[in-house]
Amino acid sequence: MAKIIAVTQQKGGVGKSTITMHLGAAFHEMGRKVLVVDADKQTTLVHWSSTASTKGRMPFQIVNLSETGGEIHREIKKFISDYDLIIVDCPPSITEKISGIVLLAANVTVVPISSSPADYWSSIGLIKLIQQAQIMNKALKGVFLLNKTEEKRMLTRELKRSLKELGFPLLKTQIPTRECYKQAMALGQTVLQMTDRSSKLASAEIRACTNEISALLK
Ligand SMILES: Nc1ncnc2c1ncn2[C@@H]1O[C@H](COP(=O)(O)OP(=O)(O)OP(=O)(O)O)[C@@H](O)[C@H]1O
Ligand SMILES: [Mg+2]
Repeated sequence: MAKIIAVTQQKGGVGKSTITMHLGAAFHEMGRKVLVVDADKQTTLVHWSSTASTKGRMPFQIVNLSETGGEIHREIKKFISDYDLIIVDCPPSITEKISGIVLLAANVTVVPISSSPADYWSSIGLIKLIQQAQIMNKALKGVFLLNKTEEKRMLTRELKRSLKELGFPLLKTQIPTRECYKQAMALGQTVLQMTDRSSKLASAEIRACTNEISALLK
């Protein structure tokens, strides 16, 4: 039976879709049977994967469930016995039903956050939603993932301190700002398929982050 990872954040543009697709690629590389679910009506992942040339196509399945609304958990359950992992890219909103419903079915929720104060403020609302889901879904674990970071900046250090106060763990691995993520999206690929120096560094970070999440699923 598949484990479910929900990638959630109220704030737009923090890297939910980027993280979802790269977790999919890294878990696939580890030999897991992966299904990536696009649950956001912007359908970023569907566009991203359709950009690929036939040769460079994503080596795992991507399904669009963004129009299923409050029924999304039933649609996800249809796939549960055919995969090891289902990774869901949630919409940038907690007022829509989708994120809350996916959280009720998920084992882990990964919350990408950058060093912008606006991301931190949005996370407070999301944490309440995660905590509500945890009343019904006791197995649900929540973790923050710092994305688009620049380590030496004060703000990142401040943010780490504040996140600790919110009581949700932060993955040790951070995903720095790297141009290769945008290139990967434009090419319909992930950084794991790219061979330039920046993509190699990015791939190592993505693999480390995936290993940390894999440990949380045990
Ligand atoms: N670590 C990173 N370094 C550089 N660019 C990044 C990184 N992570 C994401 N991006 C870029 O930031 C933009 C927003 O990322 P993405 O679409 O993944 O965010 P999102 O949270 O899914 O947005 P939305 O809320 O609109 O769904 C994209 O252009 C993406 O390529
Ligand atoms: Mg997105």
